[in-house]
Amino acid sequence: MQTQNAEQGTLFSAPPSPSLASANVAERIVTLRATIAAHDHRYYVLDAPIIADAEYDALYRELRKLETQHPELMSPDSPTQRVGEKPLPEFPAVRHTVPMLSIRTETDTEASGARAFDARVRRELGLTENDPPIAYLAELKFDGLAISLRYENGVLVQGATRGDGENGEDVTQNIRTIRAIPLRLNSSAPPKVIEIRGEVYMRRDDFEKLNERQLATGEKIFVNPRNSAAGSLRQLDPAITVKRPLSFFAYGLGEVSGWSLPETHGDVLDAIERFGLPVDKHRRHALGAEELIAFHQDVATLRETLPFDIDGVVYKVDSLALQRQLGFVTREPRWAVAHKYPPQEQFTTVQHIDVQVGRTGKLTPVAKLSPVFVGGATVTNATLHNEDEIKRKDVRIGDTVIVRRAGDVIPEIVAVVIERRPKNTHAFEMPQQCPVCGAAVTREEGDADAYCSGELYCPAQRKQALLHFAGRRAMDIEGLGDKIVEQLVDKTLVRSAADLYKLTQGDFAGLERMAEKSAANVIAALEKSKHTTLERFIFALGIRHVGEATARDLAQHFGSLDALMAADGNALVAIPEIGDVMADSIHSFFAEPRNRDVIAALRAAGVGWPDAAAATTAGALSGLTFVLTGTLPSMSRDEATRRIVAAGGKVTGSVSKKTSYVLAGEAPGSTLAKAQALNVPILDEAALLQIVENAKIENTASQKTISQVTP
Ligand code: IVH
Repeated sequence: MQTQNAEQGTLFSAPPSPSLASANVAERIVTLRATIAAHDHRYYVLDAPIIADAEYDALYRELRKLETQHPELMSPDSPTQRVGEKPLPEFPAVRHTVPMLSIRTETDTEASGARAFDARVRRELGLTENDPPIAYLAELKFDGLAISLRYENGVLVQGATRGDGENGEDVTQNIRTIRAIPLRLNSSAPPKVIEIRGEVYMRRDDFEKLNERQLATGEKIFVNPRNSAAGSLRQLDPAITVKRPLSFFAYGLGEVSGWSLPETHGDVLDAIERFGLPVDKHRRHALGAEELIAFHQDVATLRETLPFDIDGVVYKVDSLALQRQLGFVTREPRWAVAHKYPPQEQFTTVQHIDVQVGRTGKLTPVAKLSPVFVGGATVTNATLHNEDEIKRKDVRIGDTVIVRRAGDVIPEIVAVVIERRPKNTHAFEMPQQCPVCGAAVTREEGDADAYCSGELYCPAQRKQALLHFAGRRAMDIEGLGDKIVEQLVDKTLVRSAADLYKLTQGDFAGLERMAEKSAANVIAALEKSKHTTLERFIFALGIRHVGEATARDLAQHFGSLDALMAADGNALVAIPEIGDVMADSIHSFFAEPRNRDVIAALRAAGVGWPDAAAATTAGALSGLTFVLTGTLPSMSRDEATRRIVAAGGKVTGSVSKKTSYVLAGEAPGSTLAKAQALNVPILDEAALLQIVENAKIENTASQKTISQVTP
């Protein structure tokens, strides 16, 4: 590649010259083409543009004008010729002189997949334990479709799909619309023939934008980036393809002549990169199986943060001489293997659609699925969110659907496979009556969600509210699980959270799955839960829209429950994190006499928390913001969060320049790299404990007050 200065000095400076002598026109056209190609490379390959869109457009318009005035100077490698041709009746056939191979796939766990491959390669090469490890190149396995690009004397002459490996389809005119693919190689002495192979794909954000556009114009919605890339490339009309944001990564070669091959695959990729094609930067040299395993693991953590989909990694023997020695078995080279990750999408069928009633009365349709292993877990349920969502996707009982589960994200139904829909299905209708209590279902205008109007009369809402109250992050009442809550509500032993504290061991006697010992444990857990914190208590109340973070903000801001209960809308929206909807919901919750009664009964039963003055004086961390990542050696992240907050600090979910510290444990996520990039100081658990411990010493006086619990 040219140096930055050379680029700046030649290709990037093309000041417009309005009156050109005709002898200079040809020269000007050549300059403009090279300038535009260089800007395309910066924008689409290096992701580092150096001019504004308007300047680029001006260059492009000037070139088009000169070419229109001088048709004799037109050339197929001009940037204006990316979409020129007419729709095709069909794609012409292409024969691959060097077949496009596929790769053997390993799906085993990270360690055994890489070890099995390395052992096979060593065996084939007749190596023993005493021989040194093999040098590999490890790459990402892009989830798109394979394409072969043929350049003759540096000019792109053909783009072809893989087809059956021997015969593909000529999709040249569509390939030309992909601006990451240069129409001319960046080389003063290009090979006579070079076929560059790689993957055409669509970035995730581009895919989402495309689908939004398709939805707005009432056109076909694509299931995933791979399908939309494939669909776009197989368009007979290049005028459509040009509107589809396709990208490309090169990963190998086909036919080559008039070029001396480097010695390693890594050098081949570097050379392709210098020719101006995009080659993914995550490729890495790896020595022996252990380094392949490390690559597989590193990429697994990185996967969710990549802007494009991958379905695994690929390991290749780096030396081309060894590759030749290893050769092929049928269609697969012995020198390469694909090592896949568990798929994030699978097909399954919808057995039933349940409507669940949440603690706020919200009705949520949930698809009950035939169990399917996806994204590393068995999935049996997928939320359908609300009526609009289910209508949009038109999910019906009996349908075959695509389920996606990526990382820790809740599984979702991506799409229905309409072709496999059985006969006599019905579109889903939201029930008009609550499936649990029979009260009317209401849905307000402008609200996507439908609600049961039964409120606390509805046992489903009451049960959910109690479970939330007892939850680990709320009052943390151990042993009070859904089976017990269900029975307590059904037997009308408990109507509100305050009733829990009136339960006696005898009340539990008649319940199923309740031994005497566990009854005693629940009673003890209830007793223990009375000593809580203000923020946990606020969270436990289950006020609509008030999650843990908001509860923490409210506790910190108001310092006491009485102050919070007395706050009007204005006082609430004065808190930066609180908007109108939340303020409304908090205000009306405390305005409701039944809620005030329950709170009074809870306090009368002895539920209490340290007063705010004490909590804030212990604030050695006040004003500091923390982000947690990875597994800590001795405490859970919840525990660490509690301690930071108790010392007056704040915990947020993502790193920014404003983050004071990142608390990192074992196997940290991308957060750590981001923190390093932003120069945010990183602490380990020991360092955090040290700081908190120091704070304790400084605050011994207020420690006494902390242990006191207000009635
Ligand atoms: S190498 C001789 N490298 O995976 C080996 N393929 O069956 C030829 N793929 O559809 C392929 N990323 O399009 C290679 N880094 C990568 C790849 C890759 C994705 C696709 C390829 C083909 C399939 C292999």
